[in-house]
Amino acid sequence: MANLIPVGVAGLGCYVPERRLTNQDLEKLVDTSDEWIQQRTGIRERRIAAPEQVTSNLALLAAQQALADAKLAPEELDLVIVSTVTGDQSFPATACRLGHDLGAVNAGGFDLGAACSGFVFGAQVAAGFIRSGQFRNVLVVGAEVLSRILDYTDRNTCVLFGDGAGAAVFTPLSRASRGEFVEGSIRMEGAAEDVLCQPAGGSRHPASAETVAKGLHFMKMGGTKVYKFAVRVFAELVQGVIDRHGRDAIGLVVPHQVNQRIIESAMGQLDMPMDMVFTNIDRYGNTSAASVPIALREAYDQGRLQRGKLVVCPAFGAGMAWGHLVLRW
Ligand code: UT7
Repeated sequence: MANLIPVGVAGLGCYVPERRLTNQDLEKLVDTSDEWIQQRTGIRERRIAAPEQVTSNLALLAAQQALADAKLAPEELDLVIVSTVTGDQSFPATACRLGHDLGAVNAGGFDLGAACSGFVFGAQVAAGFIRSGQFRNVLVVGAEVLSRILDYTDRNTCVLFGDGAGAAVFTPLSRASRGEFVEGSIRMEGAAEDVLCQPAGGSRHPASAETVAKGLHFMKMGGTKVYKFAVRVFAELVQGVIDRHGRDAIGLVVPHQVNQRIIESAMGQLDMPMDMVFTNIDRYGNTSAASVPIALREAYDQGRLQRGKLVVCPAFGAGMAWGHLVLRW
């Protein structure tokens, strides 16, 4: 393929809601303790959207920051991708609402459903369109209001997740000042609906009085299966980057913020020190598709992204679906 256009990141943004739900707050809702949650997950608090806030509202604030960072007007966007499993509604796409609210009057848009891997997959879709010359400016937002599908009587899930949004603007490398898109991967393995899912509301179990009574619109998770899967694929994805680019090329790992213990365990298997990984799970919990772009923006703000070095973002989640993104800063 000739004349492929190199791709980069022109801007990053994120937004988290004001309200903090602490471990102490959760102690009042379910049989849990601050000590258990911190020891098993590393989480101290997570953010919860205000009752009137929906996913597109969070996405808008993250997207506006990313566009300002990119010095790009909304009218210059060609495509808006919203990665989410908690869109404003089943359809139309949350991207259509976001595009309208943003003023992206010349863009097309769609939602991408890949759970916690959503942003990393969206980045690769964006890169493909730009590389081929079909689009120039693509906004990818990972946004979730997971608190709306959590059962705050189920301690297995409600302590882990939070709400938030992160965004990145991808453009041809020539106008990107926030790093080069180097590579990525998109993988899946089906038949794992029992591991991590929202059972009802789709064609398998359409919404009914019975599905509501049985709590089937809440997230369900087999935590141990996800734990083992996450450690394995995290280590495999980063090892692949080490094999292709060399250990010294890597400046920082910015993984899906799944669980502090999973991150520590994978970094241990890779024989990489913990100062090579960025985490903010203590403050936000797991925000699914939003976690990587929020972490990228925070790592950038904190000066953790080193010029010329690779930023490696492994992500993994429901599906099971997993993949990675590598940027050169
Ligand atoms: O993006 C992907 C999304 N998925 C995830 O992030 C989940 C990944 N998995 C995990 O993070 C871990 O598996 C958990 C944090 C969910 C659980 O940690 P674990 O060390 O695997 O604990 P466990 O599931 O083996 O449970 C140990 C005990 C159980 O009690 P029994 O059966 O030993 O009496 C659980 O019922 O801990 C109990 N437990 C809790 N106790 C207090 C489970 N949740 C809680 C809780 N507070 N919130």
